[in-house]
Amino acid sequence: MPLVNMSKLLKEAEKGDYGIGAFSVANMEMVLGVIRAAEELKSPVILQVAQVRLPYSPLKAFGPLMIAAAKEATVPVAVHLDHGLDLDTVKMALELGFTSVMIDASSLPIVENIQMVQKVKELADQYGADVEAEVGQLAGSEDGSVDHEMLYSDPDEVEKLYQETKLDAIALSIGNAHGLYKDTPRLNFNILEEAHKRVPVPLVLHGGSGISDEDFRRCIAGGIRKVNVATATFLSVENAVREYCKSEKHDYFVMSDTMVKGTYENVCRHIKVFQSDNKV
Ligand code: 13P
Repeated sequence: MPLVNMSKLLKEAEKGDYGIGAFSVANMEMVLGVIRAAEELKSPVILQVAQVRLPYSPLKAFGPLMIAAAKEATVPVAVHLDHGLDLDTVKMALELGFTSVMIDASSLPIVENIQMVQKVKELADQYGADVEAEVGQLAGSEDGSVDHEMLYSDPDEVEKLYQETKLDAIALSIGNAHGLYKDTPRLNFNILEEAHKRVPVPLVLHGGSGISDEDFRRCIAGGIRKVNVATATFLSVENAVREYCKSEKHDYFVMSDTMVKGTYENVCRHIKVFQSDNKV
């Protein structure tokens, strides 16, 4: 099954009324764990890495690994740059064959956000790749380094971004947050409903870790097609390794497989909630 465009997966998800998990990965074991889960559950999937994580997983080395794993998979896999922050990194991901990129200029006023998205769209079009961008701002940050104030997406701005860029997917801020939630998340489904009415493109939910299964289902019924999950998978890997280290005998390769399994378990759980299983 080939490496595919994210928009293809999201369009099929729209038709079938399910969500696609976009799972953040940081090393080979995590890539293998995501692919193992997707293959076993016959689910399309998105593999992604965020720009802030590149100091740990250098794009020029890790990107080709993600692409190769996607090409080898027996299910459709899109490879995505999450939270791209500058044109050089976006261009590098596109050169490597990533099938979609996110440009995160959501901290800028909407006019400047749009200008940035237009530049990225022009670039991505040359590679036949898709573009995601964000309106509003999530609390927390991808790597926990900053604690942004949450700013809800304004549906007028969501519509303006779409009209002026014709991008492929829009990430919303509806009370979702990156990292672990301090309190039970309370999502604003009115914003989701309004944004969904205004734009014909799939919507994206970041900050998937800690959202309840019921809220995931409501989001998907309301037009969310891409669901980003990072922290929950990293924790699942950490916990699996911590448990493994309690055993008396240690073997590096068993530990490596433990990381694959830690990833696999969390990805399986989410794929079932998003109902993308048995869609291939
Ligand atoms: P979590 O780490 O909260 O799952 O967020 C993932 C995400 O949105 C990546 O962009």
